[in-house]
Amino acid sequence: MTTDPELERAVRILRAGGLVAFPTETVYGLGGDAENPAAVQRIFQVKGRPTSHPLIVHVGDPLALSAFAREVPGSAARLSRAFWPGPLTLVVRKGPRVSPLVTGGRDTVAVRVPQHPVALALLRTFGGAVAAPSANRFGCVSPTTAAHVQADLGSDVDCVLDGGAANVGVESTIVDVSGEHARVLRLGGVSIEAIERTLDGPVTVELDGSDAPGQLPSHYAPRARVTIVNAAELLTNAEHLRTRGERVAALVPAGVPSAGLDVEVVPSEPEGYARALYAALRRLDQRNADVILVVPPDERGIGRAVVDRLRRAAAPRNQS
Ligand code: TXA
Ligand code: MG
Repeated sequence: MTTDPELERAVRILRAGGLVAFPTETVYGLGGDAENPAAVQRIFQVKGRPTSHPLIVHVGDPLALSAFAREVPGSAARLSRAFWPGPLTLVVRKGPRVSPLVTGGRDTVAVRVPQHPVALALLRTFGGAVAAPSANRFGCVSPTTAAHVQADLGSDVDCVLDGGAANVGVESTIVDVSGEHARVLRLGGVSIEAIERTLDGPVTVELDGSDAPGQLPSHYAPRARVTIVNAAELLTNAEHLRTRGERVAALVPAGVPSAGLDVEVVPSEPEGYARALYAALRRLDQRNADVILVVPPDERGIGRAVVDRLRRAAAPRNQS
């Protein structure tokens, strides 16, 4: 865990324009001072991400939203009150303080207050805004431990704060409240049901990535091919692949019969499945399988975000 001297060092690095990887409740972030253009440019460089893909601005206090937004619509106020700190990102029209480098030239900015003691201590001591994508290389599985970050980014980052394993395990839910109607652009740690209850009405869900670039179909993908199967077809599918000479591994919820298979077992309830998902995909990838068969969780609550990530991991590769 992070000590005070480590935290102070991280804040000094941010102030000097360096990059700090830090834990959040969703996944680890690769942070830089959002108001320092050189720091923001280095984030894109280290991540290997196109500069047109906007970054999320992290702040330590929900009230800071108004410092970065041109206006705070009623829906944003309600959602931030209900879910911040927490796994929710709000897209609002940007104020003059936000550099177009952060927003990929857009007129809107994504803001989030993460719920993790180390992230909050970092943000509050720093006092400013920290632009941070997930701390993995572009197109790879997001990191949920400090060791994942080290393995992905190594010495390209000036400091990695260790806050243990991420408690939610998938990225934040992104809700665009910049227009007349709230639109969910990415499924994540806060369920659609909870958002609709808070807003007192239905929201639209637009996951094609046209409004939240960086959600390519083949995102979140391990190296091996990923195929989603239901529990009842798992063993026959695996057998079929093996007879074709393919090396098979599998990701299965506890309780699903998988005798004789090289498996990672994750909790069957959606929250536990989400928490375990990315670490399990990384371990499976190290087994040199050709194919990873995945039995998904129930598609309710955060299970919907998990299934979304699994579908993206299973999507054909090399498309842009
Ligand atoms: O849980 C999370 O959100 C993590 C942690 C570190 O906070 N961060 C994260 O960042 O997942 P990243 O960069 O991997 O994903 C950010 C997503 C991208 O899909 C991006 O297109 C979208 O947020 N985004 C950022 N600014 C936006 C904007 N102005 N309008 C629409 N989408 C935006
Ligand atoms: Mg990411």
